Amino acid sequence: MEKNIAVLSGDGIGPEVIEQALKVLTAIETKFNHKFHTHFALVGAIAINQTGNPLPEETLAICLQSDAVLFGAIGDPKYDNDPSAPVRPEQGLLRLRKSLGLFANVRPVTTYPTLLSLSPLKEEKIKGVDFVIYRELTGGIYFGEKGRKDDIAYDHCVYSREEIARITRLAFDAARLRRKKVTLVDKANVLETSRLWRDEVKRISAQYPDVELDFLFVDNAAMQIIQFPSQFDVMLTENMFGDILSDEASVITGSMGLLPSASVGAKTSLYEPIHGSYPQATGLDIANPMATILSAAMMLDSFNLHAEAEVIRESVKNLLESGYGTAELQLPHSCKCSEIGDLIAAKILAM
Ligand code: IPM
Ligand code: MN
Repeated sequence: MEKNIAVLSGDGIGPEVIEQALKVLTAIETKFNHKFHTHFALVGAIAINQTGNPLPEETLAICLQSDAVLFGAIGDPKYDNDPSAPVRPEQGLLRLRKSLGLFANVRPVTTYPTLLSLSPLKEEKIKGVDFVIYRELTGGIYFGEKGRKDDIAYDHCVYSREEIARITRLAFDAARLRRKKVTLVDKANVLETSRLWRDEVKRISAQYPDVELDFLFVDNAAMQIIQFPSQFDVMLTENMFGDILSDEASVITGSMGLLPSASVGAKTSLYEPIHGSYPQATGLDIANPMATILSAAMMLDSFNLHAEAEVIRESVKNLLESGYGTAELQLPHSCKCSEIGDLIAAKILAM
């Protein structure tokens, strides 16, 4: 199979972790006789530095011509504490989501038996936790009308039925292949948009009689993720609730450096680790590339290369089980970022 992949490494540790994922993809090409054509493009702070624009037109064009986008990370501390900066790296990502129509952010929350002791939760609470968050990504308060007048500022939260429906169908389809339960997280006791979500999700759920649907208010969901995380199978929610809850959910596993994500759209889809650009670690070769490598596996799934994706996941699992990982995993064999890439690529070729 031949595929075109846009590679947007971005800022901070982005380029280092992407390099490891590319080693792994090269191993997959060799082993399975595929050809992945990579097309590098700028995004984030590095794009601002070089072009003045966090998402140059050329980058957008490359993404639109590709079968998928592999994304590292964006962000630079230079912008974080300057609310008046007119251009920001994050604008590149938000514009990319909107322009590519990436309406569903899919984040699996997976635990690894060898890493359970790193979880901030008690082992018996976190053991076996396996759910996936479907976060709406191109609507809501992120993209509603915003403005400021004198001492007043506003951000409107707007949703249409169709925006809710398309991600809801994806979430129910996913639940069908899992434990057949969808939990809609909202704030329907207060927000009109949440009441529209409830209405539309209930309507669609009628087409999935085999899937159980339940509802949680977002404040309660924040507590339940800590207290009883194993109750969840597919969590469905709007943009900002999903932003917050997916970060909360990622840390309870204890292995945030291993969690991948997919942002699915009508035109193309984008794969990225859930962690950020980790600026303090830039160039030190200490970042964990596994989340990016597992994101590449999700990308292969989207090409219907399931056996290939599974080989990557198995190699990562094997490596961890034999006690190899980056330093923060506190395993017997502490490895550099680049060594992890080499080890996983070698494992794939040996399998
Ligand atoms: C994420 C990030 C982004 C978001 C930022 C960088 C705009 O936190 O992907 O979750 O809030 O969506
Ligand atoms: Mn976030």
